[in-house]
Amino acid sequence: MIYQVYPRSFRDSNGDGIGDLRGVIEGLPYLSSLGIDAIWLSPFYKTPNKDGGYDVADPRDVDPMFGTVKDAEDLITSAHDAGLRVIFDIVPNHFSSEHIWFQKALNSLPGSSERARFHFFDGRGVDGNEPPNNWNSLFNGPSWSRVIEADGKPGQWYLHLFDSSQPDLNWDNPEVHEDFIKTLRFWLDRGVDGFRIDVAHGLAKDEILKDHRDPAGLTQALRLDLPGMSKEVRAGLLSDVPFFDREGVHAIYKDWRKVIDEYDGDRMTVAEAFVYPSSRQTRYVRPGELHQIFNFDFLATDWEASALREAAERSITEMNEIGASPTWALDNHDSPRLVSRVKDPAKARAFALFSQALPGSQYIYQGEELGLIDGELSPSDRQDPAFIRSGGADIGRDGARVPLPWKADEKYFGFSNGGSWLPQMDSYKNYAMDVEEKDPASFLNLYRSSLALRKQHAGLGGDSGITWHEAPEGILYFSRAAGFVLLANTTDKSIEITLPKPAMILLQSQGGASLTGSVVTVPANTTLWLQQ
Ligand code: GLC
Repeated sequence: MIYQVYPRSFRDSNGDGIGDLRGVIEGLPYLSSLGIDAIWLSPFYKTPNKDGGYDVADPRDVDPMFGTVKDAEDLITSAHDAGLRVIFDIVPNHFSSEHIWFQKALNSLPGSSERARFHFFDGRGVDGNEPPNNWNSLFNGPSWSRVIEADGKPGQWYLHLFDSSQPDLNWDNPEVHEDFIKTLRFWLDRGVDGFRIDVAHGLAKDEILKDHRDPAGLTQALRLDLPGMSKEVRAGLLSDVPFFDREGVHAIYKDWRKVIDEYDGDRMTVAEAFVYPSSRQTRYVRPGELHQIFNFDFLATDWEASALREAAERSITEMNEIGASPTWALDNHDSPRLVSRVKDPAKARAFALFSQALPGSQYIYQGEELGLIDGELSPSDRQDPAFIRSGGADIGRDGARVPLPWKADEKYFGFSNGGSWLPQMDSYKNYAMDVEEKDPASFLNLYRSSLALRKQHAGLGGDSGITWHEAPEGILYFSRAAGFVLLANTTDKSIEITLPKPAMILLQSQGGASLTGSVVTVPANTTLWLQQ
């Protein structure tokens, strides 16, 4: 069970309105009270903060906004003392344009070794006025920007799959490899337990000077939140992308794995990699490569029985084949929050209990355990480059990044005593931890109960198997070892089911279930954990 901390929005210790590492240290008692095993921190390195810290200007230093390297070291020690592992985020696809390497590249000549660390090319067309190819940025607009050369004239172009402030690194260059190994060691030497690898599928590029056959279609296909594209068309567009999931990435992770294995303890890596078809995910977790890969299926799956079962079964089967652990996530800093997405707290609670009963690792995004909703923000508050670059057509990800409410009656709901970098809505008061703590029916207490049970119950957690059973339409029904049974009713009507044996209820996502012997009534949009 891994809890994602988005440091900017977790807790602010110095009153500047921005969460920081000391704030995370202050929050450790809360985190360990949840019953999680590890925390993963989104980037807190030196950054101009054009993409929430995923634009790294120095991966071996901490941005003053977040603290110091000493704070990061103290955080690792304090988390370990509290029994929690610590995972850092590593961003190898790109640096910030403020990284010293890019600054040097800008001040060097075309063809220089400084430029060879990135993807600099001459443009096409008259005077090189057009970009070297037609690829789009994942944040909208072209994925190329043109620089001004020493003679004061527009010159070469550089590739950026994300914002223009995030130049892509050239992984064909050994210097890039060496620098990242140095970064891994820098943090491993300081005791970090692992890394989440950002855009892990993007590092190697093929045929960089060739146009894509359908750049607009590809952009559309990559926006999983946008309906209106058939499964087949989307699958076709996503299955062969010249800058994603190329063979070259695997050599990189084999090298990284060797470095990680040199260190004592149980260190791990998890890839953020969108790859299609999903069966290709297993290639990232082959022996000698990474440990886990995120499965984002649930972020785009409705609360609907057949889709959920299909997504769950597929991932379990694929990961089992290679002996890797499946992973599940309902939320993260890049997606709408679960309750806002499914538009119903009851469904969200039921969804969470369904997901948490599956074999493998669960990733929880801060605030998910409170059932927090997305912040409603005015355009002038929004900072996400996806929002800015699309002129607002893409609403962006800021809604899920609004700072957490800790205490209902304090200013900024206890997040900070000086401000909040994104405004919190008044309704966040109702989700404050101190309010939820006192309410036995709160999301927080549901998560605490479920996480505790996952630790105690021999049939939960771990990778022990799962057996699906026939069930009426709209019902998910499976059992696991040690008599564990899950029943989830995804319909809007309560349903009665007869189990093969008498059972008892361990946990329910909301009240209202009843059980007489082996006859269970599962209320609408409810998940039950049962002991049989
Ligand atoms: C990943 C991060 C996202 C970031 C992007 C570029 O998808 O999760 O927040 O914007 O990479 O680094």
